[in-house]
Amino acid sequence: MGRGNGYDVKDIKLAAAGRNRIEWAKKDMPVLRSIGERFAKEKPLKGIRIAACLHVTTETAALAQVLSAGGAKVSLCASNPLSTQDDVAASLVRHDGIGVFAIKGENRNTYYSHILKCLAIAPHMTMDDGADLVSVVHTKKKEYLKGMIGGTEETTTGVIRLAAMGEKGVLRYPIVAVNEAKTKHFFDNRYGTGQSTLDGILRATNRLIAGSCFVVAGYGWCGRGLAMRAKGMGARVLVTETDPRIAKSVRTVRPFVEEYLLRDGRAIHILAEGRLINLAAAEGHPSNVMDMSFANQALSAEYLARHGKTLEKKVYTVPDAIDREIARLKLNATGVRIDRLTPEQKKYLASWEMGT
Ligand code: ADE
Repeated sequence: MGRGNGYDVKDIKLAAAGRNRIEWAKKDMPVLRSIGERFAKEKPLKGIRIAACLHVTTETAALAQVLSAGGAKVSLCASNPLSTQDDVAASLVRHDGIGVFAIKGENRNTYYSHILKCLAIAPHMTMDDGADLVSVVHTKKKEYLKGMIGGTEETTTGVIRLAAMGEKGVLRYPIVAVNEAKTKHFFDNRYGTGQSTLDGILRATNRLIAGSCFVVAGYGWCGRGLAMRAKGMGARVLVTETDPRIAKSVRTVRPFVEEYLLRDGRAIHILAEGRLINLAAAEGHPSNVMDMSFANQALSAEYLARHGKTLEKKVYTVPDAIDREIARLKLNATGVRIDRLTPEQKKYLASWEMGT
């Protein structure tokens, strides 16, 4: 069953719990809050319909509220069948009037039917976390291509897939790669994933990390962050690729933990069906770091609303001015002041005649 409109009657308590948690998260999202205040006055997204396929968390709720405050009509579905926080979904529907098509633990069919329901608003923009909306719009729902201004993409994997589409000339609208912003991947991918993945592993397994052999498959910003945190907790960390080998039998030993027995008697525990354990068993990255990621989403949506029609059908990095503005707002909110160059320093940098 999709949530959408009409869901709200029975789940008053669930929605109230969601609202409290969303408010709690927003306290740690000063950059997004300040963008929301400006959006509420200037309405840069007036008349824009946005379909968002993101993890339905408290932080995503904060982003959805900001987009709505900016004048957009927002429709939301999950970017992973296990990552939805049901109280948040209920709250968005009941208190914010946002259509949410997501249920934690939904199966593959429901997941895709929810994507279709989310797209039914006939969006001008897509917001993806893994390129699922772009993929469906380019394959099964091409009728939505006509009104599309542009889209954004949150993840490394999504950006790689979309850039490949751009290079092959099959991408039919411009995409802003939010993942590529420095204020996104240096913080979200490295520190957010590092912390939230360990959080998910600990909640799912309750195992001691110290002394364990911790294998990280892949060494991008996410892998590096996780390796750093696991090492910090005393694990022996190896970086490699996975090969789960022969599965003899499977049983669920705890929520989000499935056991595969190997022939030699050892067991491999697969967490959250091999999906995102940080969002399935824990709550995803902390609000403080999602603040900058979703500030990039909000400002990229504003940028697309202004300039999308003049852009080519390819993947763009987030404009540097947006990245810098987010860094400035974050430092400002944290009370950090940075020095400016003195006139003497500026003169020296602009010259080549003087020695040190
Ligand atoms: N991706 C990782 N953590 C997230 C969060 N808290 N909310 C939305 N998307 C996320």
